[in-house]
Formats: sequence, C-alpha cells, structure tokens
Amino acid sequence: MITIIAIESSCDETAASVCRDGIIRSNIIATQAIHEKYGGVVPELASRAHMQNIVMVVDRALQEADTNIEEVDAFAFTQAPGLMGALLVGASFVKSLALSKQKPLIAVHHMQAHVMANLIPEEGKKIPDFPFLCLTVSGGHTQIVLCKSSAQMEVIGETLDDAAGEAFDKTAKILGLPYPGGPLIEKYGKTGNAGMYSFPEPQIPGLDFSFSGLKTAILYFLQKNTAAEPDFINNHLADICASVQQRIVSILLNKFKKAITQTGVRQICLAGGVSANIVLREAFTDLGKRMHCESFIPSFTYCTDNAAMIAITAYYKFQQKDFCGLDITPQARAGW
Ligand code: KG4
Ligand code: ZN
Repeated sequence: MITIIAIESSCDETAASVCRDGIIRSNIIATQAIHEKYGGVVPELASRAHMQNIVMVVDRALQEADTNIEEVDAFAFTQAPGLMGALLVGASFVKSLALSKQKPLIAVHHMQAHVMANLIPEEGKKIPDFPFLCLTVSGGHTQIVLCKSSAQMEVIGETLDDAAGEAFDKTAKILGLPYPGGPLIEKYGKTGNAGMYSFPEPQIPGLDFSFSGLKTAILYFLQKNTAAEPDFINNHLADICASVQQRIVSILLNKFKKAITQTGVRQICLAGGVSANIVLREAFTDLGKRMHCESFIPSFTYCTDNAAMIAITAYYKFQQKDFCGLDITPQARAGW
C-alpha cells in the first residue's frame, strides 16, 4: 500500500490531500477570502495565509483519510509555477516533513497536475487512456497539451498574453465585480442573451491563443455605452456577461477543434479553474460529440486549485521513482 500526502500552495488556496494506492482519501482546501476586496491575489497576504493555514489543513487531510504522518510513504508539493512566497511555504513545510520522516520527496508541476486531475478515479466515472488531448484553462495559463503518457506531455498551443481565467477576471473587474470574477460572470450570464453583443475573435495563427484584445474591446465597448447610458452596466449586466462568456468559450473551442483535427487524437480532456464553467463544459462535450471524440471533464472540486491533483500526479511519479533532492527550490515560472 502506498500512501502519499500532497500540498498545493501556489496561489490563494492552501490545500492538502491524501492519496492511497491512487485513490483520493481526502481533499482539504482552505480558500483565502482576504483577496476578494483587492480585485486580485495579493502575494504577501497569500504567503501569510498559507503559513497560517498549512498545519491545520495537513492535519485535517490526514484525519479525514484516517491515517497519520507515520504511515505516509512520500511527501509531494507544488514546485512550480506560482507566487514565489506562496510556493516557498508549501515547499519548506513538505521538505521538513520528508527530512524528518526520511521519506521521498516529490516535486509536482501545477499545470501538469491540472491535466492529471482527469485521471483521478471516481465511482461511475471513466478516466481517459493515453494518448489524450487536454485543454487547460486556468487563471494563469491557457494551454493545449498533447499527453502521450503521464511523463510525456507536450504543450502544443498556449496563450500569447492573458489566460482565459484572466479574461474572465479582468472583465469582472471592469464590470465592478469582485475577484475571482469567473464564477460571477457565469452566475450573472445565466439569464442573459449570449447573442446580444458581439466581441471580436482574435486571428492568431496556429494553436496559440490571445485574450488581451478582448479585454480592450470590452473596455471600449463599455466606455462608449456608459457615455450614452450611465447605468448601462447595471441595466444590461446579464447580456454583457453572457456575451463575453460566449466569446471566451468560442475562442477556446475553435482552437481546440483545430488541435483535434491536427493531432487526430480522439480522447479529449478539459482542466483548470475555468473548466468549472458550465457553458464551457457543455460546449466542450458538444464539440466532442461533433468531432467523434470521447470527452472527459474532472468533477468540479478537481477543476479549481486543489491538492488531490497534486497527489494523483505524485502517485504516478512515485511509481516511476521520480523523486527529488532536498536541495530543490520552487520556481515562479517554469515550463514542463
Ligand atoms: O486553476 P485555478 O483555480 O487557479 C490557477 O491555477 O490559476 O483557476 C482560477 C481561475 C480564475 O481566473 C477564476 O475566475 C476561474 O478560474 N474560474 C472560472 C469559474 N470558476 C473559476 N471562470 C469561469 N467560470 C467559472 N465557473
Ligand atoms: Zn491552478
């Protein structure tokens, strides 16, 4: 029996998860509400909140998994990418545990872990076989990843500027909504008409994305309309949110469709925080049907940042004896 505890602390969630023989036994997440009023994550506050929460979160993860630190066979943590101060809290904590218990240490790349969330076994849910193609959409990244094995993942397309989650969050900020704005755009957009306003789709060659033009287009659109109708945002919030969401989804899926055609891979996965968005989930499943692909989407709890995805990735790495030394350091930016 292999028991692994994993910690995620790359941004604003302090999370711990215990995985036993590839099955997730606990998944604890302490969300840092403190950032809401600042309209984005404040790095120093995030580090401090991780420091405050980490012991409690790890204790609860062990308790809920009905185990204790003595039974743990390996310690895993998010090594990159993320906020340096936030990563350091998790890395230092996990290193100390591995050192004191003389057990292997496993470094996990956060974006690989988002992809691997698709491999978390759940009752009644099929998981993909390799190779598969993954659309990873988070607050910091937007990537199309060709996954040949758990150790062989190739980014074949990515954003040249803002990430899809950032497009949601920045739009929300312009609309006067708090951080994180993605779930709120989805909420207000539910009753809106997605065809009401048409925002431009960038013409980027290949499989790369761009979202910064969309943000500028939305800004000009709102400036123009609020000049004519000062309460324009309040009066039309649902239609604006639905229309923006529709455009973000179409930018993502038009490129992903191209990637399916180019690679010929017929198993497709969605990952990352934005994959919690219902409109995207439904459109992704529809695209799968139209392209004769089998589509996979993680459960909601495994879409946004969590430690279960770090634990499952660590489980695959454990089997390959892919351990790291105690001199490893976190990296704010890192490819994989
Ligand atoms: O993967 P994640 O939790 O953290 C990063 O690794 O960045 O993604 C966070 C992003 C935020 O931009 C947030 O607004 C977005 O995911 N998000 C959503 C939804 N839930 C989270 N965007 C649109 N609709 C949602 N329901
Ligand atoms: Zn993430």
